[in-house]
Amino acid sequence: MDDLKLKVKIGKAAFANPVTVASGTFGHAEKYYDLEEVKKLGAIVPKTVTLPAQEGNPPVRIVETPSGMLNAIGIENPGADGFIADKLPGFQKVGVPLIISVLGHTDKEFEILAEKFTAAGGFVALELNLSCPNLGHKTLVAQDPKATARIIKKVKKIAAVPVIAKLAPNVTDITVIAQAAEDAGADGLSLINTLTGMVIDVEKQRSVLGNFTGGLSGPAIRPVAVNMVYQTAQKVKIPIIAMGGIADASDALQFILAGATMVAVGTMNFVNPRAPLDVLNGIVDYMRRHDINDIRKLRGKVKRK
Ligand SMILES: Cc1cc2nc3c(=O)[nH]c(=O)nc-3n(C[C@H](O)[C@H](O)[C@H](O)COP(=O)(O)O)c2cc1C
Repeated sequence: MDDLKLKVKIGKAAFANPVTVASGTFGHAEKYYDLEEVKKLGAIVPKTVTLPAQEGNPPVRIVETPSGMLNAIGIENPGADGFIADKLPGFQKVGVPLIISVLGHTDKEFEILAEKFTAAGGFVALELNLSCPNLGHKTLVAQDPKATARIIKKVKKIAAVPVIAKLAPNVTDITVIAQAAEDAGADGLSLINTLTGMVIDVEKQRSVLGNFTGGLSGPAIRPVAVNMVYQTAQKVKIPIIAMGGIADASDALQFILAGATMVAVGTMNFVNPRAPLDVLNGIVDYMRRHDINDIRKLRGKVKRK
């Protein structure tokens, strides 16, 4: 592997390889942190952290769907102070660069989260989960280019590390939000978050999920995600972390050819905890088979005709 150039960068944050995990799909189980599967990751992205601790949504929280799943976990997490005290040190010991994902329910909360994590340190980038309410509006922040830009600008003033905007696919044109994020100074983009969906129990005549709706993820959303990454890469210059149904190296390579700099395994971690390592090994095999010595030579190289 040493003869191949796998290093990638997002702003000034450098990663040994392009393979990471999608927020919320990688456990907090410290006993696994010594495993090769974890040590070889390019980056680790823990579950989104909010300012106060959150219990999450009432059950049922997960339902299987064709080639995927619908979840309404509801950002269950110990809150910023709890995470920094109890979880961050364990993650830091792994020795893999950390990307911290945060979600504020107000602009002020985003600023306080940025302040708290900047004071704590020990991570290389801050990912803003913009699938949060845009107060006073019926939309999410990630559905509004102005709100997206406003929050990125505020966080950029505080953060000492690159800021990545995580975008939602539940929009008419994701490239409009992506461009607003880039113009506001985002150093990178993560896409896609889950697609809003609903499953109805016809016998009970009610929605299966306690939260009524949930987020669809897994292989079912992959073609949608590949297209959104492709469209976005045509419009922005900042690097993209791509996710959406990645199960193996071939899936991941689709995203890289579409223009992604990094690739994240999400739902498939639950099916195969070795999936991220399999993806990395598979990318290496592909590069050797195609005589490509630098991952950057594959980025965005999908042929138009
Ligand atoms: C159970 C579950 C929990 C998730 N939690 C978060 C989260 O806390 N923050 C976030 O930004 N995305 C979260 N996501 C979305 C994933 O990070 C990812 O964007 C999405 O699932 C698409 O990738 P995938 O199809 O590979 O899972 C979650 C997804 C699942 C399935």
